[in-house]
Amino acid sequence: MTAAARALSRLMLTDFRSHTRAELHLKRGLIAISGPNGAGKTNLLEAISLLSPGRGLRRATLPEMARADGGGGFAIAARLDTGGGAPVEIGTGIEPGSARRMVRINGANRPANDLTEWTSVLWLTPAMDRLFAGGAGDRRRFLDRLTLALHPGHAQAAARYEAAMRERNRLIGEGRSSDAWLTAVERQMAEFGAMVSNARSNAVAALGAALATQEGPFPSAGIALDGESWSSSADLVAALAASRRNDVRAGRTLIGPHRDDLDVVHLEKGQAAARASTGEQKALLLGIIIAHAGLVAEQTGRRPILLLDEVAAHLDEDRRAALFGLLDALGPQVWMTGTDSALFRAIPGDATYIEMVDGVPVVRS
Ligand SMILES: Nc1ncnc2c1ncn2[C@@H]1O[C@H](COP(=O)(O)OP(=O)(O)OP(=O)(O)O)[C@@H](O)[C@H]1O
Ligand SMILES: [Mg+2]
Repeated sequence: MTAAARALSRLMLTDFRSHTRAELHLKRGLIAISGPNGAGKTNLLEAISLLSPGRGLRRATLPEMARADGGGGFAIAARLDTGGGAPVEIGTGIEPGSARRMVRINGANRPANDLTEWTSVLWLTPAMDRLFAGGAGDRRRFLDRLTLALHPGHAQAAARYEAAMRERNRLIGEGRSSDAWLTAVERQMAEFGAMVSNARSNAVAALGAALATQEGPFPSAGIALDGESWSSSADLVAALAASRRNDVRAGRTLIGPHRDDLDVVHLEKGQAAARASTGEQKALLLGIIIAHAGLVAEQTGRRPILLLDEVAAHLDEDRRAALFGLLDALGPQVWMTGTDSALFRAIPGDATYIEMVDGVPVVRS
């Protein structure tokens, strides 16, 4: 089985956002979805983004995703073609009245983090146009998604770190700055925090190296992890103990990898990405995503599924053609949306075209 070839061969949505019921049979390669505003294109991508751990590409709550006029639940069912091996059936959704995400892999209930064993999904959305200029939290989440594709254990380590930190913040909020429970919680934070920190720095170093040799139509990005390095849990545990008094005053944990940020510069211009033009920022992001997909393939033998929401619209024609060419080679499956099918004219070879007809996705080829 070549793991590199994992792509969706079937996708079924039930009561997911605007989609009452949709079923798509798919092949590998580029998938271009076109249709008017509000037709449900981004909703489709959002459904696919839920085949990875986390809250999906809109970071919405699960009940928000259930169709407004439906019964309150929703379901996403996907068949993952593993290229030679048996296909894997992945299901996720919520029951009516519940906010708990169910994940089923080949019929068995699993924690959402187990999805990383099978799928790796990355996306670019118009909301991410503000990634460089906006808050550190979004950049950290972006960094974590990049990291996760390279180190599947990262999702769990990050979740455990966050959980331990919430517990520490609770204790600190109660002014309990010197009890044994706090010490135990700090040990947990340090153990998972060091894992998180190491995975992020490895990912940034590897991606930085890949970006440095990247050629093509997109400007080179220089990336760096902005934050203290917590490569040793002993250092972090000591720093947390030393920070207790400050943290009690602040009412939260002031040090640790949850303060990390991702620094990006436009290399040719030697300028912070936040100062680049809108189109340049988009191009920088695309360059990062493309270099990352290549890196993931090289390190894990498995290419991520890419969801590119409205990326074509902001690129000039030459860049667009170059992008399609690059993406076609990246595979296994790249989903793109646009309001006008003409945007996809420069796609080379054998792509799949999906048109939204009265809000229902119809495969045209
Ligand atoms: N929970 C929900 N139940 C029913 N409809 C919903 C729900 N959430 C969102 N919608 C509807 O889905 C539609 C938006 O879908 P989507 O964002 O996928 O459109 P789009 O095709 O990407 O449009 P655009 O080209 O403007 O980006 C809106 O009309 C919105 O009201
Ligand atoms: Mg949209």
